[in-house]
Amino acid sequence: MPSDKPSNHVRQVVPDDLLREKQACLDRERVEELIQGKVVMVTGAAGSIGSELCQQIAAFRPQALVGFDQAETPLFYLERELVRSFPWLAFEPLIGNITSPADVNGAIAKYRPSVIFHAAAYKHVPMMERHVFAAVENNIFGTWQIALAASAHAVEYFVLISTDKVVRPASVMGATKRVAELSIRALQKRGGTRFVAVRFGNVIGSSGSVVSIFKDQIAAGGPVTVTHPEMRRYFMTASEAGQLVLQALAMGKGGEIFVLDMGEPVKIVDLARNLIRLSGFEPERDIKIEFSGARPGEKLFEELELQAELLTSTGHPRIRSVNQPAQVGKARIKAYLRELRQVCERRDAASLILLLKRLIPDYSPAFGLQQAISPSSPSMRFDPVQHTAAQPGLSAPIPKPTGFSPS
Ligand SMILES: NC(=O)c1ccc[n+]([C@@H]2O[C@H](COP(=O)([O-])OP(=O)(O)OC[C@H]3O[C@@H](n4cnc5c(N)ncnc54)[C@H](O)[C@@H]3O)[C@@H](O)[C@H]2O)c1
Repeated sequence: MPSDKPSNHVRQVVPDDLLREKQACLDRERVEELIQGKVVMVTGAAGSIGSELCQQIAAFRPQALVGFDQAETPLFYLERELVRSFPWLAFEPLIGNITSPADVNGAIAKYRPSVIFHAAAYKHVPMMERHVFAAVENNIFGTWQIALAASAHAVEYFVLISTDKVVRPASVMGATKRVAELSIRALQKRGGTRFVAVRFGNVIGSSGSVVSIFKDQIAAGGPVTVTHPEMRRYFMTASEAGQLVLQALAMGKGGEIFVLDMGEPVKIVDLARNLIRLSGFEPERDIKIEFSGARPGEKLFEELELQAELLTSTGHPRIRSVNQPAQVGKARIKAYLRELRQVCERRDAASLILLLKRLIPDYSPAFGLQQAISPSSPSMRFDPVQHTAAQPGLSAPIPKPTGFSPS
C-alpha cells in the first residue's frame, strides 16, 4: 500500500479512457427527418441512458423535447445542462411516474410527441431480486401503461430501451424487461405506432456501474472488489449507445427487437486493473483486487441472443434484429397482465416467479427465489430476509458467451 492515502493522488479517469469508441454509422439524414421540428419525449430522461439520449436528440433540433422522470433533482440538473449546451432548445422537464395513468396520459395528451424513447426502468439486478414487486410494477406495468398511451394517442414511434439481461434471464430484472419487450410487440398493429425495442449491454460509466464503484474504491485506497475472476461484460460508451439507439429509430418499421453490436466482452478483472493503472497506481502492489462471488441473479457472461432465436442482419454493420418465432397476441398479454396484477396485489412472490416463468420459459430464477417457489420449501411465501443473504457462486448455469463475432 502507498504510504499516504491514494485519494490524494488519484488521476482522474473518464470512462471513455477505458474503452475505444467504435463507429456508430448513424444515418443522420433519416434521424433528422424523424426528429427535427418534431416533439420528442424521453422517459427516464434524468438517468444515464435517458440523459445521453436527450443530449443527442437536442442536437437534431426538435420542436420540443419533453424529459419525463420521477427524480426531481436529477431532472433539475439535466435541464440546467441542456439549457447551457443548447440555448435554442425548448426543453420541458416533467416530473411524473410511468405507472400513473394520469401522469402518462396527461403528458402525452398535452405535448403530443411524435417519438417516445422509453428509458425509465429499474435496472439494478441484486436490488430487483429483493424487490420483485417493484420490478414488475415499474418495468412491466409502467412500460405497458406508456405503450398503451402511445398507441391511443397515435404516437408515431415508441422505442423501448432494453438490455442484454433479457437473454435467458437469470434475474427478475431481466425477466421483467423481457416481458416488457413482448408486451410492446403485442401492441404492434398495421398503421399504428411503430414499436421497437433495442437491446444492449453495459454503458461504461453509467450510474451505479462497475466503473463508478471501482473509482470510489480506488479513491478510498482499495480494495477493488470483483465478483469473479471470469466475470465478463459487454461495454460501449454512452455516446455510442445513444447514436445506435437513434439509428434503431431510423431503421424501425415496427415490431423489431434490435440488438446492438457491443464488440468483444471485457473481463471485469482486466477492467479493474486498467482503471487502477490509469488512476496512477499498480494493481495488487498499491491497490488490492478481491473476489467477492457472483450475486443473486448475476451471470458470468451476458448473452446477446436467445438460443431459440436467430439474429438477422439489418444491413447496418452494428445492428442486428431478433427473429421472433411468434408474436404473443394482445388479448393473451392483457390476460397475463391481469393475472400478474392479482399476484402482485396479494404480494405472492412464489406465484409471481412461476408466472414470469410461464411467459419466459428460459428464465432461471436465482437460488433464493427458486427456494421460494419450491414445493418442499416450508413456505410458498417470499421471505425478503432469507433472500437478501448473499449467494456465493453462480445463480444460473454458465452459458457460453455468444456475442457477435468481429466483423
Ligand atoms: N446503463 C446501462 O449500462 C444500460 C445498458 C443497457 C440497457 N440499459 C437499460 O436502460 C434502461 C435505463 O437505464 P439507466 O442506466 O439509464 O438507468 P438509470 O437508473 O440511470 O435511469 C433510469 C431513470 O428512470 C427514472 N425512473 C425509474 N422509474 C420511473 C418511473 N416509474 N417513472 C418515471 N421515471 C422513472 C429514474 O428516476 C431514472 O432517472 C434500463 O432499462 C436498463 O436496463 C442500461
